[in-house]
Amino acid sequence: MTQPIAGIQKRFSELYGRAPAGIVRAPGRVNLIGEHTDYNDGFVLPIAIDKCTLAAFAPTDGRTVNLASVQQEGAPASFDLDADIEKGSPKWANYPKGVAAGLVEKGIELTAMDILFDSDVPIGGGLSSSASLEVSAALAMLAAAGREIDDYELALICQKAEHEFAGTPCGIMDQAISVMGQSGRALLLDCRNGEYRQIPFDNPDLLLLVADTKVKHDLTDGGYAARRDQCYSAAAKLGVKMLRDADADMVSAAADKLSDKELTRARHVVSEIDRTLRAVEAMEAGDYAEFGQLMYASHTSLRDDYEVSCEELDEIVELAAGLEGVYGARMTGGGFGGCAIILARAAQADNIAAEITKNYTARFGHPCVIFPTRAAAGAGSAQDNRI
Ligand code: GLA
Repeated sequence: MTQPIAGIQKRFSELYGRAPAGIVRAPGRVNLIGEHTDYNDGFVLPIAIDKCTLAAFAPTDGRTVNLASVQQEGAPASFDLDADIEKGSPKWANYPKGVAAGLVEKGIELTAMDILFDSDVPIGGGLSSSASLEVSAALAMLAAAGREIDDYELALICQKAEHEFAGTPCGIMDQAISVMGQSGRALLLDCRNGEYRQIPFDNPDLLLLVADTKVKHDLTDGGYAARRDQCYSAAAKLGVKMLRDADADMVSAAADKLSDKELTRARHVVSEIDRTLRAVEAMEAGDYAEFGQLMYASHTSLRDDYEVSCEELDEIVELAAGLEGVYGARMTGGGFGGCAIILARAAQADNIAAEITKNYTARFGHPCVIFPTRAAAGAGSAQDNRI
C-alpha cells in the first residue's frame, strides 16, 4: 500500500472527534489492453495499481451519513437515511451517494455513519479515481451494515452510481478491477457476463511504467458518450446486438451502410477485442515482444480510428518506441488526456523514464510524471495483510 493509514486515522479523529471503527481501501487501475471495448460487451485486461482511495468510517447514532474527503474543501456532505438519496452538490459526494442509493435498492439496510476518504489516485487523471472512490464507499457502508455482497454485483452497483449520480455512461471495467484485482495478476474480464480469468503478470524482469500527461480528462463532457452511441448505431446497422458480435470482415463488408464515424469506431472495437485475446495468449506464452506490438497497434487504433488520444499521449508512445528495453506502449483508460503505459525491461526502466521525461519536457515545456506500478490487490480492508 502506498498510503499509510496513520494519516487518515488522525484526520478522522480531528474531524469527527473519535477514532474510526474501520478503514477500507479500493485501488485505481491501468488497463493493459482492451480499450473502449467494455461497453461493447468485449474483453478488457486491466490491473489494479497500488494507488488507492482509503475510507475510514465509524457508525453513529441517528439517521445521517456524513461524507468528507481530505482532497475536498468544505464541510462534510451528508444525506438522510429516511429520505430518498438524491444527487446534488458538492459534486464529488454524488459518487458515494449513488453507491448508497444502489445498496439501498438492493435491500441493504444502511447504518448512520461518518466517513472520511483519502486518495492518492490523481483525480481525473485516467487511473479510475472515481471507481476507487465508489468502491471504497461501498465497502465502508457494507462493513458498517455488517453485510457482504458478490464482487461483480458490487461492481455493477458502483457502475450504476457513476451512470445515474455522476452522469458518465462508463462500462464495467474500472469498478470490476478495483473490486476483483489480485496481486501479480491481470484480470481478463468478459464484459458481457462478468466471467473472468486471473492471468499471471508478475515477471520480475518486466516493469510497467505509467506516464501521466497531467492533461485532465473529463468523461462527462460528451466525447465518451458520443463514441458509445456511434458503437451502438454501428452494431444496429450491422444487425448484431453489440459490436462484440461482429468481426473485421463484417465491418468492412458493411462499409457502405455505416457513416464514416460508425465505420472507424466499429473497426477499432472489433480489432481491439481481437488484440486483447491475442495479448493474453502472448502474456501466457511469455512473449512480451508480441504483447508490446499489440500495445502499439492498440494505440494507433485509438488514435486514428477511435480518436481519443491527444498529442501528449502520442508523444510518450512515440518516444517510448524509440528506446531500447521497451516492449510496447499505449494510452490507457478513456483517453482525451490521462496516462500512457510503457511495458519495459525492468533493468532499463530508470533510463527509459528519464529519457521520456527529458524529451517530453523539451517538447511541452513541462514534465510528465512517470512512476512504476505492479499488479496490486483489489479492494478490501486496509488493516489486513493483503497488500
Ligand atoms: C473509462 C471508462 C471505462 C472504459 C474506459 C475505456 O475508463 O470508465 O468503463 O470504457 O474508459 O476503455
